[in-house]
Amino acid sequence: MEGGEFFSGTARRILKDYHDVEIGMYTHGGCFIPSNFGRFTKIGRYSSIARDVLSFNRNHPLEFKSTHAFFFNPKLTFCDEDKIEYIPLSIGHDVWIGAGVKILPGVREIGTGAVIGTQAVVTRNVPPYAVVAGYPARVVRSRFSKDVIESLLESRWWEQDIELIRPHLEEFCRPYEELYRGVSPYDHQDWANHLDTEAVADHTSRVRNGLEDIQ
Ligand SMILES: CC(C)(COP(=O)(O)OP(=O)(O)OC[C@H]1O[C@@H](n2cnc3c(N)ncnc32)[C@H](O)[C@@H]1OP(=O)(O)O)[C@@H](O)C(=O)NCCC(=O)NCCS
Repeated sequence: MEGGEFFSGTARRILKDYHDVEIGMYTHGGCFIPSNFGRFTKIGRYSSIARDVLSFNRNHPLEFKSTHAFFFNPKLTFCDEDKIEYIPLSIGHDVWIGAGVKILPGVREIGTGAVIGTQAVVTRNVPPYAVVAGYPARVVRSRFSKDVIESLLESRWWEQDIELIRPHLEEFCRPYEELYRGVSPYDHQDWANHLDTEAVADHTSRVRNGLEDIQ
């Protein structure tokens, strides 16, 4: 398809029209494998999804006499209509979902900027910019501080075309929290040049001699 997963409008139209899966521009990975994501899934822009991620948007009917598909899937010709509700799943922008992740029907929303660790089983909604992992998935940390998250959400940078972002790549290709606070990690070299080298050498030798705990 034209431009591959990152850019193809045709691939996105096929997924939407035939599988009810909406995929935002530049999002790539397992969401393009039709059976991997359930119907009524909507994924934002600039998200990255490992190829073997599975998302289930409904359960078999636990309260029916049988959970077998004959008794709820009309395509199999034994029942007239499909009575099992699909639960729409919304996955935000700039979400990274690791290898082997499973998303269960209880999940309605995975927030923008979230990261889901490899092999996680996600059973609950995930807040924006949270890093979640494990079985069941729990928040292990946040990507950024609260004020940075608020500013990113307000900026809606993902609505920009990648060609409009291109002139601002220096904002994207380095740790953002430091940049936001005006402390560039690339300034560390400059700081090192201004260090009191005698004091550093003295401290190093005292640590080596066991006079101070290593900080
Ligand atoms: C989630 C992830 C991004 C976190 O990376 P990180 O911030 O460097 O995390 P750390 O390694 O410092 O771990 C932080 C804590 O989370 C736990 N953790 C991290 N990833 C985990 C996972 N997938 N499952 C369970 N626990 C996990 C660590 O054990 C650690 O717990 P502790 O604080 O109790 O020791 C990374 O572990 C991960 O899973 N990456 C996905 C890789 C992948 O699937 N790539 C292929 C797709 S492109």
